[in-house]
Amino acid sequence: MPHLVAMINSSVGKKFLQALTGLGLFAFVIVHLIGNLTLLLGPSAFNGYAYFLEELGHGMVVPLADCGLLLFFGVHIVTGIRVALLDKGKARPHGYQVDGNAGGKSRKSLSSMSMIVTGILLAVFLPIHLWNFKYATTTGYGPPEHQMRDLYLVVETLFSQPGWVVFYVVVMVALGFHLWHGVWSAFQSLGLTHPRWLPFLNLVGWGFAFLLAVGFIYLPVAMYLNFVPLTGG
Ligand code: HEM
Repeated sequence: MPHLVAMINSSVGKKFLQALTGLGLFAFVIVHLIGNLTLLLGPSAFNGYAYFLEELGHGMVVPLADCGLLLFFGVHIVTGIRVALLDKGKARPHGYQVDGNAGGKSRKSLSSMSMIVTGILLAVFLPIHLWNFKYATTTGYGPPEHQMRDLYLVVETLFSQPGWVVFYVVVMVALGFHLWHGVWSAFQSLGLTHPRWLPFLNLVGWGFAFLLAVGFIYLPVAMYLNFVPLTGG
């Protein structure tokens, strides 16, 4: 046990934990976007999808996944702060496993700075987002014998307000930048540094970050511009 604590507290251990939780959250964000794309199919598809998730595993899957997400977000944020303080407070004895490929000192500090700024923005966004959607008061949807939450109406109402659309677009751009650099750093912190794989992993990180940002930006914009079936319409 003392060994485990010492390992987690070491510079390499902190980066390892941050990389592992970051990749877990990255997987969640991919699944979340795929699910949210049902918004484009209208209320029946989206509410049906949300209902399916709620009922999954006798209603146990979502609470369990939420506990996992809370743990992952918590560890990711705390280790992120600790790594940032470590980087700031003293010269890194180890740093990322491949220092030479990161593109020089100034580029490295610029990307670390962008990770801190986009990370803070995402940490502020998350409770607001949960308040807006997960904990929103909803009306019922569907026939009385098969009532679901009208989560589609909640999303549609929020994204009919330009201020919220702009807020989501700005945060989703930040998410794209955070993932772009984050996925790349995570691969390096996990020791995936073989020169043959680096360009491929870089492309994977960049490609996914771009697609996710575009997908998440499209949703509020498309709903604001009524590119999707309207409730009751
Ligand atoms: C346009 C972008 C997004 C839309 C429309 C959206 C939509 C939603 C909706 C409707 C819910 C409630 C699900 C339910 O109660 O069943 C939700 C939950 C959640 N969202 Fe998002 N989301 C977006 C972006 C994001 C991003 C970028 C993240 C993470 C960085 C995120 C993280 C979460 C989390 C952690 C939950 C709670 C998980 C759960 O219990 O279902 N969302 N989102």
